Amino acid sequence: MTIQWFPGHMAKARREITEKLKMIDVVIELVDARIPLASRNPMIDEIVSSKPRLILLNKADMADDQKTNEWKHYFQSLGHKALPIDSQTGKGVKAIPGAARELMSDKIDRMIEKGMKPRAVRALILGIPNVGKSTLINRLAGKKIAKTGDRPGITKKQQWIKVGDEMDLLDTPGILWPKFEDQQTGYKLAATGAIKDEILDFQDISVFVLKFLSIHYPDRLMDRYKLESIPEDVVELFDEIGKKRGFLMSGGWIDYDKTAETVLRELRSGKLGDVTLETPER
Ligand code: G4P
Repeated sequence: MTIQWFPGHMAKARREITEKLKMIDVVIELVDARIPLASRNPMIDEIVSSKPRLILLNKADMADDQKTNEWKHYFQSLGHKALPIDSQTGKGVKAIPGAARELMSDKIDRMIEKGMKPRAVRALILGIPNVGKSTLINRLAGKKIAKTGDRPGITKKQQWIKVGDEMDLLDTPGILWPKFEDQQTGYKLAATGAIKDEILDFQDISVFVLKFLSIHYPDRLMDRYKLESIPEDVVELFDEIGKKRGFLMSGGWIDYDKTAETVLRELRSGKLGDVTLETPER
């Protein structure tokens, strides 16, 4: 479900998360490994600055492994812990409680010094809609936990989910709004299905994707659409792909809508291989 975020929603989401932060030790920020910056909330650093943070590059199964590794190092260079995961199959998920606990090791040491018995680390999952928060919570819980819906303000009673002996997780994630800052970010969010296609022009999203793939993954495009080379002009590229797939309208014109829709569907379903649409800034 994608909702429209108004200033009132944003203020409310922020307030609710600030309230939850009082109960927790570590923030688990979920991002999409294919777009690790575009899928971050623009104010996340400000909102959760007081807590240590574990950044999970989710949907790593659909991202380019080499780029995911670069992103992991990028986030670590910012002082966070970072792990690639695939919540759908559970790959990488077992490492989460240990990583969260490491982030709290100073606090645990202090507890031990004071003669207290160290307790499980209390964590909260945060992220924009569709990034995989519910899938991850279910995976960590080992069962299906009721979803609240991607609407700030719809609350249920908070409960803790025990994840082994090391971690207690709040069963309701913090939902934050995505970036609405620039068109490129919008295209990346739309290309990965994080926001609905109708919000932006369908063909424009596809133009963005085709331009990106032409530069970063030309072989994939050539393989998938049986092209001998990649035309420099994106309109010609549309023509080539449309022709190869037989997407013709009367008069022999290429059906650009169908071509655009096919490229996006094939990107999202992984038919164009594992693709990452952003590279860390150096
Ligand atoms: P949210 O709570 O953050 O809003 O996200 P949610 O868990 O609902 O996940 C959004 C979509 O992303 C779901 O697909 C889910 O299956 C998929 N997903 C979550 N984590 C991963 C992952 O690590 N890898 C892959 N490949 N997909 C992931 P959907 O099509 O919307 O729903 P469904 O058909 O799976 O039920």
